Amino acid sequence: MYYADDIVEQVRSSVDIVDVIGSYVRLKRKGNSYFGLCPFHNEKTGSFSVSGQKQMYYCFGCGAGGNVFTFLMEYENASFPEALKMLADRAGIRLPEENHSAQERRRADERNTLLEIEKEAAKYYYAYLRSPKGAQAMQYLTNRGLSAETMRNFGLGASGKSGGLYAYLKQKSYTDQQLEAAGLVVYDEKRGPHDRFWNRVMFPIMNQSGKVIGFGGRVMGDAKPKYLNSPESPIFDKSRNLYGLHIARSSRAGYFLLCEGYMDVISMHQAGFSNAVASLGTSLTQGHASLLKRYTSEVLLLYDSDTAGVKAALRAIPILQEAGLAAKVVDLTPYKDPDELVKAIGPEGLQQRIDTAEDSFLFEIRTMQKKYDMQTPAQATAYYKEVANKLLGFPTALERKTYTQAAAQMLQISYRELAGFVTGTGIAQGGEPKVRRAPSAEDAKKTEDKGKRKAQRLMLTWLSEDPKRFRVIRKYLRYEDFSEGLYRDVAEALFAQLEKGAVSPAAITSRYQEEADLRELARIFNTQLQAAPSEEKKAEVISELIYKIRAFALDDMKAHLDPADMAQMQKFIQGKQELEKIRNLHISPDEWES
Ligand code: UTP
Ligand code: MN
Repeated sequence: MYYADDIVEQVRSSVDIVDVIGSYVRLKRKGNSYFGLCPFHNEKTGSFSVSGQKQMYYCFGCGAGGNVFTFLMEYENASFPEALKMLADRAGIRLPEENHSAQERRRADERNTLLEIEKEAAKYYYAYLRSPKGAQAMQYLTNRGLSAETMRNFGLGASGKSGGLYAYLKQKSYTDQQLEAAGLVVYDEKRGPHDRFWNRVMFPIMNQSGKVIGFGGRVMGDAKPKYLNSPESPIFDKSRNLYGLHIARSSRAGYFLLCEGYMDVISMHQAGFSNAVASLGTSLTQGHASLLKRYTSEVLLLYDSDTAGVKAALRAIPILQEAGLAAKVVDLTPYKDPDELVKAIGPEGLQQRIDTAEDSFLFEIRTMQKKYDMQTPAQATAYYKEVANKLLGFPTALERKTYTQAAAQMLQISYRELAGFVTGTGIAQGGEPKVRRAPSAEDAKKTEDKGKRKAQRLMLTWLSEDPKRFRVIRKYLRYEDFSEGLYRDVAEALFAQLEKGAVSPAAITSRYQEEADLRELARIFNTQLQAAPSEEKKAEVISELIYKIRAFALDDMKAHLDPADMAQMQKFIQGKQELEKIRNLHISPDEWES
């Protein structure tokens, strides 16, 4: 059901977020905001803030944030329409009648049937494992160190040699077509319809609400494939589900452990780490990352320690960061995977590895170094240049400085020397060095995109919190300078509010109902520098951000420039001249305080 913007905004503006959240969380006034203990992660200090001015909440500890709708969606695990309904009831507003189309209803029915079938199958496999016929599978799982309790918690089961699931489900009067759609039955000319899984240990895959949506089945010997998985179906989207999430979501650890395999997750949970999840035999996707972002702000990677695992970690890091998650990497060596590690060194050993996990940026540059022969000056130089290029991806001077310091310390070179490479005044000049692999244009583009969006978010957050500065900012920035799509739309709306002198980020968020958008909006209005600048430094940081945002906008324009379009060309040239003028923009204290 889609509700019109105006009714959503009517409901939102009829309630006060401080009252609503105040009925769930004890809040205390501190300055302009209210603070309390974050309901989304375990903490002793109150990092959870609710702003009456912005009508938004944000946790500085775990990064949870949003408007009154997302609060109820997260806290009550409600869908958007459910949250809207709760608030409408509270405010005494009547919502328009729901009007499901016939097609929507059919689709919902189909999904429900598939869920029923998966549940029946899980029950069948579960019972099979615990029957005399399941003895071999039971022995296998026991040998792998799993307790009866763990097997129950994860609903483990087994499929038999002569596959009896098909007959069992037929007797429940499901059609062949439904069973095939559920991925449990396959059809071929010779055998007709028959079980997909046979003679395997069965791992039911649950969605975040704990409903079975598919299976992974492991052979008990060395046959291939080791794991056979359900195909995707209307209820099973591999890129949007994480194994173990239905349990991990209520963990209060404050961070998640991301592994590769079913067995990793299970043995970590058994060892007391109920915050472990795994992507399901696919590499990490944006869908996974935004799912994680709903529950945490920090992810520790525990990928296999082999080359493939390192590669997968390097691929996962930018995806996590892009979703606004801090990432760290846990060193598992000399063990192959988390399952093996925890068996060898126990929960205390694992905890110690977790406590000393490496910042993902340092992991990336440390791994990068392996491609270079650091004994050869030319290659060492090339390496430092690649590091410098990555450092440039941080959107502000402050962050660049912090990370340049950390990197210099790790690489055991002086801060000045490394900083020299970052600013392009590196000591080793002359002749392009031969490198085995130069940083690809694509890498550079990615770091740039990240920095670009962060610079824009910083500006938007800052303007929403300190609207009186808009008088200065509007001389240098227009909403068109923001990236097309969500960012520009938000900037346009915010700038319009700022012109009128009535700032309401929450009113802007009311135009959106998609969860992904709402989450991004929470980030847009809650982005801070890693180290908060002092009042005097603020003007300097803002000047830098203005220049950056303008430069990025011009780059975008250049990429889409049509040389035949004279008007456009002129605008571009004018933009370039203007940009030149603000290259070393220093907003003066007078102008600033005006
Ligand atoms: P691994 O090969 O590392 O398996 O694959 P594992 O988790 O260590 O399994 P055990 O300990 O030998 O039982 C990691 C994950 O990749 C997917 C599965 O999700 C597996 O858990 N995978 C692997 C497949 O889907 N199919 C395969 O054939 C192999
Ligand atoms: Mn493994």
